[in-house]
Amino acid sequence: MDKVLVIGACGQLGSELTHGLSKVFGQDNVIASDISNPNSAVEGFQFERLDVMDAEGTAEIIDKHGITQVYHLAAILSAKGEENPQWAWNLNMTGLLNILEIAKEKNLRKVYWPSSIAVFGPSTPVDNTPQHTVMDPNTVYGISKQAGERWCEYYFEKYGVDVRSIRYPGLIGYKSLPGGGTTDYAVDIYHKALAGEHFECFLSEDTYLPMMYMPDAIKATIDLMEAPAENVKVRSSYNVSAISFSPSEIAASIQKHLPEFSISYHPDFRQPIADSWPNSIDDSVARNDWGWKEAYDLEAMTTDILKNLPELIPSFQ
Ligand code: SER
Repeated sequence: MDKVLVIGACGQLGSELTHGLSKVFGQDNVIASDISNPNSAVEGFQFERLDVMDAEGTAEIIDKHGITQVYHLAAILSAKGEENPQWAWNLNMTGLLNILEIAKEKNLRKVYWPSSIAVFGPSTPVDNTPQHTVMDPNTVYGISKQAGERWCEYYFEKYGVDVRSIRYPGLIGYKSLPGGGTTDYAVDIYHKALAGEHFECFLSEDTYLPMMYMPDAIKATIDLMEAPAENVKVRSSYNVSAISFSPSEIAASIQKHLPEFSISYHPDFRQPIADSWPNSIDDSVARNDWGWKEAYDLEAMTTDILKNLPELIPSFQ
């Protein structure tokens, strides 16, 4: 029986993935861990305080619970990383290398590590960006994700570590608040709309970015991790996409439900980051290798969020 450790379980992705994994493995077999105190998202799970920079402490927790699979999600995102590049690089890289080394030493069955569309850069083709293409990331986050992809493939090729990865587009969920990403406007916008407030967007109205609703991201992650190893042919990281939209398009989808909602645009330092990323992604390799297919488009996502977010809003205040 597998025992799964989620590192970064209190974060935007972790708090939903932990629940997704408990449906596959059973709640008793999923251990939530984070550098911060447990939050309501991990209630009912065994929880460990864990700093992934501490290799020894991490290895001890892996031994203590007889962990066979690690989902290592802890990272500093794109916008936040630019505030302190050395710190972001150190955390993003040391954390991953610690986990890969532990996986090698302890023969862990599988490791999951998220990459991002931030691995692409200004010279990458922006429309239908292919799986294999020019990559010249110019944020510290993107540089760390690109280097991380190389390390994942290296550990797979040299040591047989079964590490799997997805280049997530912007992830949009209503169950938790994101922190420090360039795509996060597409989460904040729903909170402002439901509060009856005006939304000032930090990207221009026509900035297209690849995005994905959280239930699709959880499904993609678990589908990849549960796929037979021989189907997982890309050992750096898979392009996976669902929807692409601009701020004015997401605003229009909200206005269909809340006609009073208003938005204005005030691009800041995050605009050049968004401009360096693709508009849309070609994910045919993931579709062919392990059958990826999204369920939500923009309208379905907006309808679902506007229906379900209101009852959670008090828990964010
Ligand atoms: N959502 C991330 C960010 O904006 C990209 O992976 O930083």
